[in-house]
Amino acid sequence: MNLGLNGKVALITGGSKGIGFVTALTLVKEGADVAICARNADHLHKAATSIKEETGREVLPIVADVTKEEDCKNAVEETVQHFGKINILVNNAGTSSANPFDQVDTELWKYDLDLKLFGAIHCSRYAVPYMRKERGGAIVNLTASMAKTPGASSLPTSVSRSAGMALTKAMSKDLGKDNIRVNTVCIGLIRSDQIEKMWQNNRPDLTWEEYSKEVGKNIPLGRIGNTQEAANVITFLVSEAASYVTGTAVNIDGGSASVL
Ligand SMILES: NC(=O)c1ccc[n+]([C@@H]2O[C@H](COP(=O)([O-])OP(=O)(O)OC[C@H]3O[C@@H](n4cnc5c(N)ncnc54)[C@H](OP(=O)(O)O)[C@@H]3O)[C@@H](O)[C@H]2O)c1
Repeated sequence: MNLGLNGKVALITGGSKGIGFVTALTLVKEGADVAICARNADHLHKAATSIKEETGREVLPIVADVTKEEDCKNAVEETVQHFGKINILVNNAGTSSANPFDQVDTELWKYDLDLKLFGAIHCSRYAVPYMRKERGGAIVNLTASMAKTPGASSLPTSVSRSAGMALTKAMSKDLGKDNIRVNTVCIGLIRSDQIEKMWQNNRPDLTWEEYSKEVGKNIPLGRIGNTQEAANVITFLVSEAASYVTGTAVNIDGGSASVL
């Protein structure tokens, strides 16, 4: 299948690690020019160097904190200045934040919404006009399966993620006329730094395989997923192969969500 990604330009927020990093690598392998942004400059440069070593292709690292609107604007502008256009935006930056209601103070509510909801809103706001110039584009918002099935200790993330789903649907309806597709992927458990920390905090006595199997007792596919499995779905959604797919939420959770 031809993904039609050759010559496309993508910006991936939180592209220095985890799912964002592997998505960046996968898009580069498919022929796209890629910019990655995150806060930590060292991690960003390591990520860009590692992609260059593996593919021979330059990746543009941009230091940005997506909780700041100005940084979102700069990340988009730098991408366009460097590569001449932007076709793809992956709003991936985020971190786990799942607590019971009493343990979430106002500051944490606001931070989580700034990071996961307003980060996506601001990056999209600045990217969309450039996508219109290209007569189309594709946005994927990373959310979480908790967005559809909020649990007792899922705050504030399930709320920020539900808002991300609504944002995805509303934007897909509004921007369809501009041939800009907007989709979301609802992540369950994917092995990344934050999940490895969870493993080390909860069950340091187990090997990764044992831990994945233990946690996998509640997952139909029986294990925690890996970053490439998430990156593959994101890459498909931003590709020409998904040209009639918009306003959709795809679970990447090994079947664990109780809803479609
Ligand atoms: N892994 C899972 O099981 C899982 C489950 C549900 C949802 N998700 C969501 O999927 C996305 C990717 O998860 P992951 O596990 O791959 O994450 P990860 O390995 O922890 O990486 C997160 C990335 O986001 C960047 N980031 C964090 N805060 C940022 C900010 N304010 N501005 C810019 N960049 C920022 C980090 O770099 P810096 O720290 O240097 O900024 C890093 O590059 C996240 O949105 C996460 O919430 C993941």
